[in-house]
Amino acid sequence: MHTFPRPSSSTPDIPPGRQPVTARADREGRTDAPGRTDVPSTSEATGPAGTAGRTGVWFIGARGSVATTATAGCAAIAAGLHPPTGMVTETPPFADSGLPALTSLVFGGHDTLDCPLAKRAEALADGGVLPHGLPSAVRAELDAADAEIRPGGPLPGDTRTDQELIAAFAADLTDFAHRHDLARTVVVNVASTEPAPGPGDPRLPASSLYAAAALRAGCSYANFTPSTGLRTPALTDTVASSGLPHAGRDGKTGQTLLRSVLAPMFLQRALAVRAWSGSNLLGGGDGAALADPAAAAAKNAGKERVLADTFGTAPEGEVHIDDVPAMGDWKTAWDHIAFDGFLGSRMILQTIWQGCDSALAAPLVLDLARLLARAHEAGISGPLPELGFYFKDPDGGTSAALAEQYATLLTFAERLRAQA
Ligand SMILES: NC(=O)c1ccc[n+]([C@@H]2O[C@H](COP(=O)([O-])OP(=O)(O)OC[C@H]3O[C@@H](n4cnc5c(N)ncnc54)[C@H](O)[C@@H]3O)[C@@H](O)[C@H]2O)c1
Repeated sequence: MHTFPRPSSSTPDIPPGRQPVTARADREGRTDAPGRTDVPSTSEATGPAGTAGRTGVWFIGARGSVATTATAGCAAIAAGLHPPTGMVTETPPFADSGLPALTSLVFGGHDTLDCPLAKRAEALADGGVLPHGLPSAVRAELDAADAEIRPGGPLPGDTRTDQELIAAFAADLTDFAHRHDLARTVVVNVASTEPAPGPGDPRLPASSLYAAAALRAGCSYANFTPSTGLRTPALTDTVASSGLPHAGRDGKTGQTLLRSVLAPMFLQRALAVRAWSGSNLLGGGDGAALADPAAAAAKNAGKERVLADTFGTAPEGEVHIDDVPAMGDWKTAWDHIAFDGFLGSRMILQTIWQGCDSALAAPLVLDLARLLARAHEAGISGPLPELGFYFKDPDGGTSAALAEQYATLLTFAERLRAQA
């Protein structure tokens, strides 16, 4: 089990804990909670049952920071305790796209840990990731999701074959859908980053076993991690014939988000980037997993890909990730960009991003679940490059520039609206 120490107020690098739950929003979604926004809620627009029954959201890594924050956060927003800050699907362009209501989402998942979700949420509140008081305010929803988490795998000593594991995971998904009478289920991988499989490895990595299970159970799929998931030749034919929508890979929440805005700026202003180097300090489960150089290599490939896709070739420079357990879920990312201006004048841009990783990721995960469920309902299948806005390494290939990705996402929202 991972614990998230409370940030020390004497540590200037770590932002203070988030505000406690103090007020419920009124019927128009207004609340006196700090940081509120006046964005109309598509949850309300689509009603409590969404467009057609309830939607399952099945997290691989359901007891992790991102999944726990998404589960607790969805309950808090649905109950009117907090505004949906950070959820793009709650902004006006998505209002009539037929997305499932937040109140219609049913959570479950797989994990290899057995720490209760409520306890995990308390640890996140102690670390300032969730507002104090939120875990107890949404305790019923956390317990309901906890009851739907099934043992993941494979753990050391598991003698099941790949096919047996896929069948077991798919059976868990089918059982979940039947018991809750779900219209459809979206599987979202938010498990620990795994190293890329070695050449000739006879076994599928765990992320691919879960992805295959999702297809077998008729679920759409999003890979929010750099792990292999559907990107293996062993699943190419299955995914092509599945008729299911999918999106990935590796959520774009901080350093890479900034790169996808800044790199096109240098390109468009005809400034010559000579080197782009980055360093990350983070703790939590993600920091521990990325302390493994093989897992970090998978992560860094996505961060560097954004630059290579924008400039045509990767500039000099590397990305490093350091595990600093005391930082918990808080991340500091530093980028150093050396570039040339007119007549070869040498210049430097440095950026420092200090963010709460799970608070950045959770609203995107909820967005993805809603968009994929709606795409599935609308009969849209295959890779969804329209969701490239959310990823470092989008399925289906797309421009790496955030502004273009956002425009493509809005066109997709219109397409969904036309079919609603
Ligand atoms: N937070 C962000 O901003 C962000 C951005 C992009 C990608 N991601 C990715 O999201 C993932 C989750 O991040 P996190 O901070 O929640 O990590 P975390 O360590 O808190 O949670 C990961 C969870 O996955 C579980 N897990 C590990 N192996 C498993 C398996 N085989 N089957 C089922 N569950 C398994 C762990 O027990 C743990 O509960 C990571 O891969 C991370 O790289 C996060």
